[in-house]
Amino acid sequence: MQSDKQKILVTHAIFPDVIARLQTHFDVEVNDSGTALTEAELIRRGADKDGLMVIGDRIPAELIAQAPRLKALANMAVGYNNLPLDAMTPRGIVGTNTPDVLNETTADLGWALLMATARRITEAEHYLRAGKWQSWHYDMLTGVDIHGATLGVVGMGRIGQAVARRALGFGMRVIYHNRSQVAPEIEQALHAEWVDRDTLLRQADHVVLVLPYTPQAHHLIGARELQLMKPTATLVNIARGGIVDDAALVTALREKRIAGAGLDVFEGEPALHPGLLELNNVVLTPHIGSASIPTRRAMANLAADNLIAALGVGPHAGNPPNVVNPDARLHRPASGGAQA
Ligand code: DGY
Repeated sequence: MQSDKQKILVTHAIFPDVIARLQTHFDVEVNDSGTALTEAELIRRGADKDGLMVIGDRIPAELIAQAPRLKALANMAVGYNNLPLDAMTPRGIVGTNTPDVLNETTADLGWALLMATARRITEAEHYLRAGKWQSWHYDMLTGVDIHGATLGVVGMGRIGQAVARRALGFGMRVIYHNRSQVAPEIEQALHAEWVDRDTLLRQADHVVLVLPYTPQAHHLIGARELQLMKPTATLVNIARGGIVDDAALVTALREKRIAGAGLDVFEGEPALHPGLLELNNVVLTPHIGSASIPTRRAMANLAADNLIAALGVGPHAGNPPNVVNPDARLHRPASGGAQA
């Protein structure tokens, strides 16, 4: 029997209870293959859908052109550079994201990488597992200190502030760079001082990148910027691949121009610059910034809330809480679009 429910595609398996909640409103198709859909599959399976719940996929603009009923793409992430907003907005297709619910979990991972990089934890474990620990040397696996050091946060949004807040417990000086200075009361609470980007790179002992990816942020950290950093400094990227020029970073790490890097995100991920795998002074994780069970659950529920509302049903019908392209409303067709 033909259902009159709107159709959605969930691009990867998620919590069954979240799928069940979506099923009360929609005909739900889930890609539970365990692998990412190819671009061609996304286009084919998205073509007859009213909405998509997007989990980590880069959505091709071509899908927007091929899907006449499409009204909303709900991203299960705070970053949304994987959505083709330029194609979506003129069609009145709403994009949403999942801010806030992952701030603390992502900041935790930033600190895990910072500490693992500064204290060479991965390298030390490999050393031990390889049976190389035979005796004590005064400089065996010596790293750099975190307590009392200077933390440089690039991008002082909600996650950046959560990273900076943790530095208080380590007695660190905190400097930050952001397009605009944050409110004085936030600076005061975090003991954080705004500096220009080059000053931050010159002065920080540990640099953490927490800014959104935009075309302007592409290769923000390249050979020149790495050259400005202290040879004892570490660099952590929990933001997005492409903000760091990975080839330039591999060269800097190989030549020990900085002490180490902790990376959760990569240019062209899940592929990695092959040079990264050959280095000891790097700690690598596969984009797990938000990967705690409670946070992933909160993200899945928020993405579902957004999609339900964007497709004009549920308690917030027509008013999804986290729209990233508000101008889409200006282009919505008089009928047949999301009911806002
Ligand atoms: C986000 O939410 O942007 C995280 O990086 C997970 O993709």
